Amino acid sequence: MGLARKDLLGMRELTIDEIRLILDTAESMKEVAGRDIKKVPALRGKTLINLFYEPSTRTRTSFEIAGKWLSADVINVSTPSSSVAKGESLKDTGLTLQAMHPDIVVLRHPASGAAELLARQLTASVINAGDGAHEHPSQALLDLFTIREKKGRLEGLKAAIVGDITHSRVARSNIHGMQRMGMEVRVAGPRTMMPCFIDRLGVEVFTDLERAIADVDVIMMLRLQLERQQASLFPSLREYSRLFGLTLERLKAAKSDVLIMHPGPINRGVEIAPEVADGPYSLILNQVENGVAVRMALLYLLAGGGQAG
Ligand code: CP
Repeated sequence: MGLARKDLLGMRELTIDEIRLILDTAESMKEVAGRDIKKVPALRGKTLINLFYEPSTRTRTSFEIAGKWLSADVINVSTPSSSVAKGESLKDTGLTLQAMHPDIVVLRHPASGAAELLARQLTASVINAGDGAHEHPSQALLDLFTIREKKGRLEGLKAAIVGDITHSRVARSNIHGMQRMGMEVRVAGPRTMMPCFIDRLGVEVFTDLERAIADVDVIMMLRLQLERQQASLFPSLREYSRLFGLTLERLKAAKSDVLIMHPGPINRGVEIAPEVADGPYSLILNQVENGVAVRMALLYLLAGGGQAG
């Protein structure tokens, strides 16, 4: 059984059943990582193109590993080494790649809506690997997978997402995904980093970190996205860190079994103290590990491969 859709553009469009199918499939895919020979024939003969207009370590590498473990042919295209650097448009680059018959194109792009635009042009499946400040669905899916793996469920859990909500595609995708799966979501950060209509997303808004993290099951810290901020939204990094950085001291306000997450890359000592990032409740590297399994599931379900045996 696959997903009854051509593309994965955002969490907002996914149903509960689709999210469950992806997470359950990822569970069986995770077993491949423990094998001596990490290879199954599920996507043999399929071609995956990773088209990245922005830097990435986790997402690009894990889609590449996921494709290779499933036996797909994987091609990486990044802007400095492609004709994008000569001014070629996204549409023309997409149509050029399409002429080589890929089955899936994974796109990361700085513009919100870029993945949808490309999906309309191509017959290949398009996976949104992050479009501007809009969505990053595979990140939210691996976050949900990691929470479910640790807590055994999603429904009824409470999460606090902390930081630069306005510029965070991870926050937006997680808000949609967590709510769809029955979780309660809070957001916390300076007012200057809250989108104007945040209340319409059905989240509770906090400007005090300690109040926000009290009695939640999951704390998701966000990276300060200085590259997306048009103007300084706080007086200094030190000030931000003093008010919204997650330190061991601050964690005393949280539940003793709280899960601490961060999509990465982290700014150590800014939004998260090193002792917290490396501490016993930190799931940062579990998230990375699970990213491969979740992306294998996505490729498998979208490319309609054979048996993953
Ligand atoms: N979380 C995330 O998207 O990381 P990368 O930018 O390294 O892919």
